[in-house]
Amino acid sequence: MEIVILKGVAQACQVAARLVESLVREKPDAVLGLATGSTPVRLYAEMIRAHCEAGLDFGRVRTFNLDEYAGLPRDHEQSYYRFMREKLFDHVNINPANTNIPNGLAQDIPAHCRAYEDAIRQAGGVDLQILGIGANGHIGFNEPTSSLVSRTRIKSLTRHTIEENARFFGGEDEVPRHVITMGVGTIMESRQIVMLAFGEKKARAVADMIEGPLTSYVPASILQMHPNTKVFLDEEAAMELKRSEYYKWVYENKPAWQKF
Ligand code: F6R
Repeated sequence: MEIVILKGVAQACQVAARLVESLVREKPDAVLGLATGSTPVRLYAEMIRAHCEAGLDFGRVRTFNLDEYAGLPRDHEQSYYRFMREKLFDHVNINPANTNIPNGLAQDIPAHCRAYEDAIRQAGGVDLQILGIGANGHIGFNEPTSSLVSRTRIKSLTRHTIEENARFFGGEDEVPRHVITMGVGTIMESRQIVMLAFGEKKARAVADMIEGPLTSYVPASILQMHPNTKVFLDEEAAMELKRSEYYKWVYENKPAWQKF
């Protein structure tokens, strides 16, 4: 894992957007794995800016989202389908047929999950996966104690995640109890992972992920085993790290050819 601690969200998202941009320029039909939630919103704004101001072409890009709430129709204002349209897809020249989000209303959920896995495989796998982290250490909606080799499937949310997400729904009772999420094993097959985490609320989970033991109790800790993961943090999210000075030193002293 490469840990990059930057002054704030804006700077972190600019640097992360540069990675996405250079991938898409190099491989115009790149497969991006996308996350929702508040964390990547600024990154998506930077990707839109790269499209509008620097001509970044999304015409052949393919995308797979991590997750969707089970039971929510696509036009529900909190569906991740709607989120992605509002925060990214409607503002770049992506072909909607190239975008994939689990269908919250799938009748046969196990069959839908298998088909989602097949579609990722047929696309050649995810080139770059964007991730946020839950304050409980989840990635996607792989809650603590999720199998570290799991595939796309239905999961029950923890009470903690329901409370965290109540802010989007106007109350805990409105938050769906189930989700369809890529598995930890699915995420681990991405060729490159860009994890973003901002704010003090994420500091404990970030420290457990980076410096704690590898455990399904902190699903994000599996990223210690991933060969190409970059973690972009603001100062607040980094504040419980024991070795933050070292990570900063490494980033500042990168050889020129390795800088991004
Ligand atoms: C969203 C997702 C989740 C979020 C995490 C952080 O697609 O998979 O793992 O990344 O819950 O959420 P925010 O960014 O809202 O703090």
